[in-house]
Amino acid sequence: MSIEDYSFFDPKVQREPFDLYALLRAERPVWWSDELSCFVVPKHKLIRDVLEDYETFSSIDANSGMIINESAAGRIRELRAQGCPQVPYLATNDPPTHGPYRKLTAELFSRDRINAMQPDVERIVAMLLKPMLERGGGEFMSEFAEPLPLAVIANLLGVPLELVPENKKWTNAYVEPLGRMLSPEREIECAALTLEYQRYFIGEIEKRRSEPQDDLLTQLINAEVPGEGRTMDVPELLAAIQQFLVAGGETATYTIGNGLLLLIQNPSIAQQVRGDDKKLRNVIEEVLRTRSPSQGLYRIVKQDTEIGGVPIPKGSVVNVRIGAGNRDEGVFDHAERFDPERKNLSKHLAFGVGLHFCMGAQLSRNEIFAAYRTLFDQVKAVRLDEARGGYAYFESTFFMGFRHFHVLFDR
Ligand code: HEM
Repeated sequence: MSIEDYSFFDPKVQREPFDLYALLRAERPVWWSDELSCFVVPKHKLIRDVLEDYETFSSIDANSGMIINESAAGRIRELRAQGCPQVPYLATNDPPTHGPYRKLTAELFSRDRINAMQPDVERIVAMLLKPMLERGGGEFMSEFAEPLPLAVIANLLGVPLELVPENKKWTNAYVEPLGRMLSPEREIECAALTLEYQRYFIGEIEKRRSEPQDDLLTQLINAEVPGEGRTMDVPELLAAIQQFLVAGGETATYTIGNGLLLLIQNPSIAQQVRGDDKKLRNVIEEVLRTRSPSQGLYRIVKQDTEIGGVPIPKGSVVNVRIGAGNRDEGVFDHAERFDPERKNLSKHLAFGVGLHFCMGAQLSRNEIFAAYRTLFDQVKAVRLDEARGGYAYFESTFFMGFRHFHVLFDR
């Protein structure tokens, strides 16, 4: 097959894009995709070059705010006008304002604080796994992989755990447009859900302004933006909370599901991780490399430039294909092989590169670790429950993860 025979909108390609990625790396390291209307960059080095050059490749408006269905644009704009404007924050921002936000957030997400949360994470893991363990299995995504990261973030922010299902609806409403696979009706619904999200958190912000709590939300509200002698206003706070929920929720959810499937498919590795924490940590990195939850990141080109010698005009959109960079044979020997023993595991791009490197990397590694450690301590084996439909992927050109994943536990 040639490159032009593939489509990013084809669910088969979304599930297994690796043949396409190999062709792109070999033949078109910078490829104009008509269907995504952007340049696709699949090689490890070129991806790093783009992500490191934040002066040329901007994150503002690159990963949010887009309208996919022109027929829905009028209603979406009306809904957006009723809410707070979406302001650039961390992942959707560039220097010079990115730096102060990053510093402010880094203090709240310090390594010590994240490690100190681990007992809470383990408590949430045990609470969510219990019903599935008692029943001998279940729908792993909705019962465990989705609520876990959202419950951890909710716990940190000070949002009641009962609201996790609402948070899930809100984060879906943010990520589905990124995947570009939604109908005009659903796109309008997503805009309405975003308004609902904003209204809920405006209420929570007001409550904490009059009655501060011992939680991350109160700390965010009171934190001074470094060098600016002021605290964040409501649109900034909403952008921050949304990013923690989305960045923290979706990606970790998909990784937990993707990793479990790899462990089911590689039972000898599943056996080896029992009681071997170092091995388990390596397995998690290899899951992130081989089936990265964010397959691509968008950037907008601020001035005429080139990537790998290919001219790229100002105003173009670039999609760096992390999932392809992570299979680059020039960096990873036998890149298609799931090999937690490989020496250069840390070179994967799943958490991004440079300025925007993921702020939740430590937290999500700890969450995923607690999830598998608890699970494999309690079950002899995990099997796919084919009778209930096995697994199905979420349709997205952006994310790789399951919509549902039915499993059975042998205890
Ligand atoms: C397996 C789980 C995760 C993966 C694979 C992941 C991946 C990423 C990637 C690729 C980026 C870079 C985005 C870009 O350059 O455009 C990023 C940024 C970010 N992530 Fe994560 N993430 C994960 C979990 C989390 C968690 C748990 C949180 C926090 C609650 C979080 C918070 C953030 C934030 C705030 C940024 C923006 C940083 C900045 O722009 O300075 N992430 N993440």
